Amino acid sequence: MSKTIAIVSRKGGVGKSTLCANLAVVARDATILDCDDQASLADWGDRRGNNSPLVIAVPPKRAISTLEKATTDWNFIDTPGTLDAGIIEVMQASDFVLVVLRYGQFDLDSVSTTLSAVRLSQKPAAIVLNLLHPNTKSQDLITNLEDAQLGYPISPHAVCSRADFQQAAAQGRGVTELEQSSKASYEIRALWHWLQQQV
Ligand SMILES: Nc1ncnc2c1ncn2[C@@H]1O[C@H](COP(=O)(O)OP(=O)(O)OP(=O)(O)O)[C@@H](O)[C@H]1O
Ligand SMILES: [Mg+2]
Repeated sequence: MSKTIAIVSRKGGVGKSTLCANLAVVARDATILDCDDQASLADWGDRRGNNSPLVIAVPPKRAISTLEKATTDWNFIDTPGTLDAGIIEVMQASDFVLVVLRYGQFDLDSVSTTLSAVRLSQKPAAIVLNLLHPNTKSQDLITNLEDAQLGYPISPHAVCSRADFQQAAAQGRGVTELEQSSKASYEIRALWHWLQQQV
């Protein structure tokens, strides 16, 4: 039974596309629907030069019909930093919504707007922290977020800012394909392991 995960955030530049690509790589049998007209992941797929994962650039209103044709175990939908009615429909067509959050006051201020849109979709969701400074004690930030009672679980596995993500993106690869034993690879595998249990 195929499962679809939509990756969202009202805030731009928080790592939606980065996590989408890297999760699709570790999920192995995956399709990416790139619903952002910036087409970052369609370009990434071109650099990659193979169809694993298959990356399909579609406007949000074509996402549902495209999903119906997907044959992979996992589908990941990358979305733009706007959360309009079209993206809410994309979330409704998904099994799970992953909200990407960069930890900073302005980001925290905007997360409630993102979560209001997620709530409208009535889909299960979780929040993952990305782009943490590698020296940050991620557990402290996760505990702070839990205390804020945002209404959705926080992934116990945060992702730090690491050069591997940029290098992998430039090569059309995932961090796990650059170096299996890197910290970035470990973080992505841990996030994926946890996420699969939530979906
Ligand atoms: N964990 C990370 N470590 C290092 N760089 C990262 C990480 N996550 C994202 N980046 C970098 O941050 C920038 C923004 O990431 P990305 O494009 O994935 O964000 P986005 O949320 O998809 O942005 P947009 O809203 O514009 O689509 C990119 O240059 C990306 O390579
Ligand atoms: Mg993006």
